Amino acid sequence: MKNILQVNTSILSNEGQSTRLADDLVRALDAAEVVVRDLAKEPVPHLDAERFGAFIAKQRTAQQDAVVAYSDKLIDELKRADTIVLGLPMYNFGVPSTLKAYFDHVARAGVTFRYTEKGAVGLLTGKKAYVFAARGGIYAGTSRDTQSPYVRDFLAFLGITDVEFVYAEGLAMGDASREAGLSKARNSIERLVPAFA
Ligand SMILES: Cc1cc2nc3c(=O)[nH]c(=O)nc-3n(C[C@H](O)[C@H](O)[C@H](O)COP(=O)(O)O)c2cc1C
Repeated sequence: MKNILQVNTSILSNEGQSTRLADDLVRALDAAEVVVRDLAKEPVPHLDAERFGAFIAKQRTAQQDAVVAYSDKLIDELKRADTIVLGLPMYNFGVPSTLKAYFDHVARAGVTFRYTEKGAVGLLTGKKAYVFAARGGIYAGTSRDTQSPYVRDFLAFLGITDVEFVYAEGLAMGDASREAGLSKARNSIERLVPAFA
């Protein structure tokens, strides 16, 4: 039985194609617990000097404690999960800005990664991640897909190295292309979880 953390980042929340595909997988997995974090409904604030200052402060004010407690809550959700399911729309050639803000709040030295003489080592090991990338165009496997290496690198930085990407592409290239893109993504879910069929 899995403990799943589903992170939705579509501006359309539940109606986003990336969310719908993530939902399909989560339904098909044998989950003991599913925690859903929807970054459109509850955006994480941008990281600024004040917030980062709270992360690294030796002695914290009450206000800094609150900032760290919020980051800790996001991190606890990640720590508790053995399976992470991420909806990843492409907006203006990049990841949703809400996801970047989220990443900025879960990358904490000494908490989710640590520095060593050989470089940074991720501390969130032993997890599996599924990423549902929804795009209007077609980019997977080309140099214009900057999202996939970025997300893969970031997750690996935290120690999450077992990552499956599922692509729903060509969603803004006419009805036939859209249907083909979604159907290909659903077929990938069937391959990942045979019971889904
Ligand atoms: C503001 C905005 C920017 C977008 N930028 C891109 C883009 O740069 N490249 C692309 O292929 N599709 C782009 N799209 C199309 C989305 O990737 C597509 O609608 C996808 O389904 C979004 O995922 P979602 O349905 O989960 O929100 C954009 C859509 C929006 C609303």
